Amino acid sequence: MILNLDMIKIILSICFSFIIFLAQSAPENAKISQIPGFHGTLPSKHYAGYVTIDEKHGKKLYYYYVLSERNPSKDPVVLWLNGGPGCSSFHGFVYGHGPFNFEKTGSMPKLHLNPYTWTKVSNVMYLDSPAGVGMSYSKNKTDYITKDTKTALDSHKFLLEWFKLYPEYLSNPFFIAGESYAGVYIPTLCSQVVKGLHAGDKPTLNFKGYLVGNGVADDVLDGNALVPFAHGMGLISDDLYKGVTTKCQGNYYHPINNDCDNKLSKVDHVLDGLNIYNILAPCYHGASSNKTKHGNSNMPENISKLGETERPLAVRTTIHGRAWPFRAPVKAGKVPSWPELLSLAGKVLCLDDEVATEWLNVEDVRKAIHADPISVMGHWELCTDKIQYHHDTGSMIPYHKNLTAAGYRALIFSGDHDLAVPFTGSEAWTRSLGYKVSDEWRKWQVDGQVAGYIQGYDKNLIFLTIKGAGHTVAEYKPKEALAFYSRWLDGKKI
Ligand SMILES: *[C@@H]1O[C@H](CO)[C@@H](O)[C@H](O)[C@H]1NC(C)=O
Ligand SMILES: *[C@@H]1O[C@H](CO)[C@@H](O)[C@H](O)[C@H]1NC(C)=O
Ligand SMILES: *[C@@H]1O[C@H](CO)[C@@H](O)[C@H](O)[C@H]1NC(C)=O
Ligand SMILES: *[C@@H]1O[C@H](CO)[C@@H](O)[C@H](O)[C@H]1NC(C)=O
Repeated sequence: MILNLDMIKIILSICFSFIIFLAQSAPENAKISQIPGFHGTLPSKHYAGYVTIDEKHGKKLYYYYVLSERNPSKDPVVLWLNGGPGCSSFHGFVYGHGPFNFEKTGSMPKLHLNPYTWTKVSNVMYLDSPAGVGMSYSKNKTDYITKDTKTALDSHKFLLEWFKLYPEYLSNPFFIAGESYAGVYIPTLCSQVVKGLHAGDKPTLNFKGYLVGNGVADDVLDGNALVPFAHGMGLISDDLYKGVTTKCQGNYYHPINNDCDNKLSKVDHVLDGLNIYNILAPCYHGASSNKTKHGNSNMPENISKLGETERPLAVRTTIHGRAWPFRAPVKAGKVPSWPELLSLAGKVLCLDDEVATEWLNVEDVRKAIHADPISVMGHWELCTDKIQYHHDTGSMIPYHKNLTAAGYRALIFSGDHDLAVPFTGSEAWTRSLGYKVSDEWRKWQVDGQVAGYIQGYDKNLIFLTIKGAGHTVAEYKPKEALAFYSRWLDGKKI
């Protein structure tokens, strides 16, 4: 009798755990079993796929979810967003803190494990947003005319649907992170998430806070930050600096007279030729210079030719920006597309997007990572001009005020050699929130070396610089980036 009861208990508990397992399991069909270009054992599970957010329009957003290598059931879930607007979050995956380092080979890139991936300590979800960007798309092209408020609503809808598919991660602390124009995506999405929590939206997200790297926030404070940065970095002379400050009276964002405009043109002229995303880095001039198209001059010609004929790529030797371009601060209204900006600025930007473009346009890769084929949704581009984007939410300062006042943690970080969104602007707007300084400007360190500076404020607001990093911090300083990221996520002193 006792034996039977025990057996029944055992059987029941087996059935019960099986039911729980069924109810709480990430979708099996989203699991990635192999990754072209990578030969080895993945240190954690990868999932990817689409979430349809508008059935009638066939509007679907693509995500790639990498589990933590530490403790996926307890570690935070972090949503990662790249900016543009129009740039794919595969930028962060391929060039930043993703699980792999991509080696150019002339054909299929070789993937190596990234020792500084943020998935060492967190579950990271890369989301392509809005529809039309990266691997996300809509069958109804009217969706490609979009704006901040719509993007935030769509991403929030995506999150609710996504957590329904992955309910076992609902109790993990949830953070939203990104860089560049995601400086707008993040606070507007956070605000939508908080509204949803107040409205009792289900499922209930365990939202804790956000991180913004070299993010745009405020047209005036960001717009006025460039000239002092250029002077402090020794890029413009004392005389030009004195001239421009006298003529513009500190108002570089909105030139008040012709003299000011002329001086600003002179500043532009002096800065021309720099890699605006990292003033210390060389400017990549693409295949038109004597670099071989596939990056490796040791590659036998027949092999690189083979690569070209098998997978002809659209002609693009440099990317059309992956950030906010120089002297085009975020203003209300339509945001110019990349080709428009290029003709306006008449300059070629400096970055190389070849390895990502190659990899993500191989049909086998797309199949493996559950992205729809090129025949269905077109080529993957790092930054697209498919969408027509309007900035309709103004300054982000009121958003940051509300979010921090409501108790959400915020880490605002800046690579201090970025000219696209200089740290001087982020330092100014974080200070402008008016919170008491709780951790006065000091160095922070990695391996006994100064890695940058930090200023902590009340309300769990931190401003942090990464010494020597450009616009995309994890790309330029991967070790330091993982260090501050993991300390902050774990609630430790940076
Ligand atoms: C696309 O969406 C718009 C706006 O909802 C609608 O008016 C239009 O009929 C749709 N087009 C198609 C082909 O479904
Ligand atoms: C490229 O290389 C060729 C041959 O080595 C040389 O004649 C040409 O000047 C080079 N072009 C540039 C832009 O350096
Ligand atoms: C490429 O050329 C080399 C020598 O010219 C030859 O040994 C090799 O087999 C060729 N490879 C292919 C894929 O044709
Ligand atoms: C901030 O909060 C106030 C008070 O709840 C609200 O009126 C305002 O609309 C909020 N602003 C933003 C940008 O969320």
